[in-house]
Amino acid sequence: MVTSSAWAKAAAHEGGPVRYGRQVGDIELVVADTDALSSAVLRQVRALMDVAFDDPDEPDEAFGDTDWDHALGGTHVLVLDGDGAVLSHASVVDRIIDVAGRPLRTGYVEAMATQPSAQGRGLGSRVMARIGEVIVARHQFGALATGVHPFYEQLGWERWEGPLFLRRGEEIVRTPEDDDAIMVLRVDRSLVPDLSVPISCDDRPGNVW
Ligand SMILES: CC(C)(COP(=O)(O)OP(=O)(O)OC[C@H]1O[C@@H](n2cnc3c(N)ncnc32)[C@H](O)[C@@H]1OP(=O)(O)O)[C@@H](O)C(=O)NCCC(=O)NCCS
Repeated sequence: MVTSSAWAKAAAHEGGPVRYGRQVGDIELVVADTDALSSAVLRQVRALMDVAFDDPDEPDEAFGDTDWDHALGGTHVLVLDGDGAVLSHASVVDRIIDVAGRPLRTGYVEAMATQPSAQGRGLGSRVMARIGEVIVARHQFGALATGVHPFYEQLGWERWEGPLFLRRGEEIVRTPEDDDAIMVLRVDRSLVPDLSVPISCDDRPGNVW
């Protein structure tokens, strides 16, 4: 469904078909692949990441260029206000996460953030609930890295308890620094009955998890 909102018109004007848009009160929930989003909307999303992840006490946690690259090439869920401003965003990209030797088609969540002035209104939960639906529809497993576990726990995500590894060519490298950060969405519990077994991700520049 395509709404007649200002944002949908703007996206169409810029040549990006909107896959799905739903008006809920004065906000709109949009689901669209990266190549369907206008460069103006993508710039807004990037600016949102810079402001949401800006913590003077934790400069290492700032949102960088490789983090942005990781957020592209999949499906985005956005909440927009009545003027088309992006209030909340997350994306899900395809990765292969290997769980105890079994490669699973995984929806990996990136760039989840809500504008600081709009936080605490349930917008992030709405975005993540829709992201969860995308993962359930298309993937065998969901995963993400975070320091804000309670936000995801209230949406059914679980903490990974096992050791983490990285697959680099023929090598398997232990990545202990991320051990407490990973959360998962078990789409099919029979594929992942145990949260304490080893898992590995494919290699990529920047933060691998
Ligand atoms: C985490 C974040 C995305 C939440 O977005 P939001 O729109 O404020 O989320 P919601 O209003 O839907 O929150 C729902 C619930 O999640 C939990 N929650 C939200 N933010 C939380 C936080 N920072 N710490 C702990 N729990 C949190 C709370 O239980 C909250 O319910 P409550 O408002 O009744 O207390 C937002 O705070 C943010 O952008 N933070 C900076 C970037 C970041 O940390 N992103 C996620 C890490 S990968």
